[in-house]
Amino acid sequence: MGSDDFRCSYSVASSVLLLFGVALLPQANAGDCDLFSGRWVFDSSYPLYSSSECPFIEREFSCEKNGRPDLAYTKYRWQPLGCDLARFDALKFLEKFRGKSIMFVGDSLSRNQWQSLTCMLHSAMPGANYNLTRVGDVSTFEFTDYGVKVMLDRNVYLVDVVREDIGRVLKLDSIEGGKLWRGIDLLIFNTWHWWNRRGPTQPWDYIEVGGEIKKDMDRMLAFEIALRTWAKWVDANIDPRKSMVFFQGISPSHYNGSSWNEPSAKSCVGQEQPLLGTTYPGGLPLALDVLKKVLGTIRNPVTLLDITNLSLLRKDGHPSRYGLGGPTGIDCSHWCLAGVPDTWNEILYNLIL
Ligand SMILES: *[C@@H]1O[C@H](CO)[C@@H](O)[C@H](O)[C@H]1NC(C)=O
Ligand SMILES: *[C@@H]1O[C@H](CO)[C@@H](O)[C@H](O)[C@H]1NC(C)=O
Ligand SMILES: *[C@@H]1O[C@H](CO)[C@@H](O)[C@H](O)[C@H]1NC(C)=O
Repeated sequence: MGSDDFRCSYSVASSVLLLFGVALLPQANAGDCDLFSGRWVFDSSYPLYSSSECPFIEREFSCEKNGRPDLAYTKYRWQPLGCDLARFDALKFLEKFRGKSIMFVGDSLSRNQWQSLTCMLHSAMPGANYNLTRVGDVSTFEFTDYGVKVMLDRNVYLVDVVREDIGRVLKLDSIEGGKLWRGIDLLIFNTWHWWNRRGPTQPWDYIEVGGEIKKDMDRMLAFEIALRTWAKWVDANIDPRKSMVFFQGISPSHYNGSSWNEPSAKSCVGQEQPLLGTTYPGGLPLALDVLKKVLGTIRNPVTLLDITNLSLLRKDGHPSRYGLGGPTGIDCSHWCLAGVPDTWNEILYNLIL
């Protein structure tokens, strides 16, 4: 599809385009298309790739390889109500980012989206050379022919966890990890799922805020304070002429069928169809309100990749029994690939190109 197939625009996307010095979008429809309001439609031309065409796909997301028998979940396309999404064009994407770097920063939902993007790019250009490396928490997938780096920085809280004499301290006001994010051309942040972790898998012993050390505190408040620290980092460290910043919205889980009017469902197990309407009966997670509130305080342009609604409708998109945990570790938080995160990336592509 050519760029003239792009029928939606709004101010955020226009300023993003201005940043990269490409032609302005058609004026006629400016302001009238919300890419995040829509419905899922069956489209036999999907998925954009098969997981077997993605040699480096991690077992965690490769539901088909893990034995998932139904594949209808790979065949849904997101249809915004007011316009069409341009189909992902890997070559255009790589040309656009020639010599540039892209980084996802966050937890395993960031890894999910990072892996999706690398699979989308690789499967479309299987002959292109690549180099996949990892140093510390940063994984880098480089398309060497284009000099495009698609990176992942695993950093589940965005703010720091520091080992001190008393134990591991989650520091809500400290964001030294940001050193790795400076100078990156496209940043896509995310944090949420780890804020509610308790027990043996909680990776900190104390929480520090405003110079005070606490054993624990209200988790939603902690999340908000950390986001504010991150927001200040964005205003202090991002040059909007060089870098674009996105926040991957809150990715929803499906562990309680009551929220999609199927009270007998105790998880996403056995779900083979999305909800085909435009709204989710269970409503939106509270964390999204907190996130939107904090995003509203940032002076620099940051775009919310508002994936919550569209992902809520995809109770069928999770690994369920076909993830890392197998049948005993049901996963209704991550997403199978090919699958829902491909749509997150298609929308990202539409907002950027
Ligand atoms: C998301 O869903 C909520 C609740 O169903 C609705 O109020 C809201 O308008 C939706 N937002 C978008 C962007 O579709
Ligand atoms: C891959 O990346 C590593 C780390 O940057 C580098 O040392 C190595 O030379 C690269 N290999 C190729 C084939 O580009
Ligand atoms: C599922 O949600 C319903 C309605 O909100 C609630 O009454 C029920 O306790 C929830 N079940 C679980 C297992 O959390």
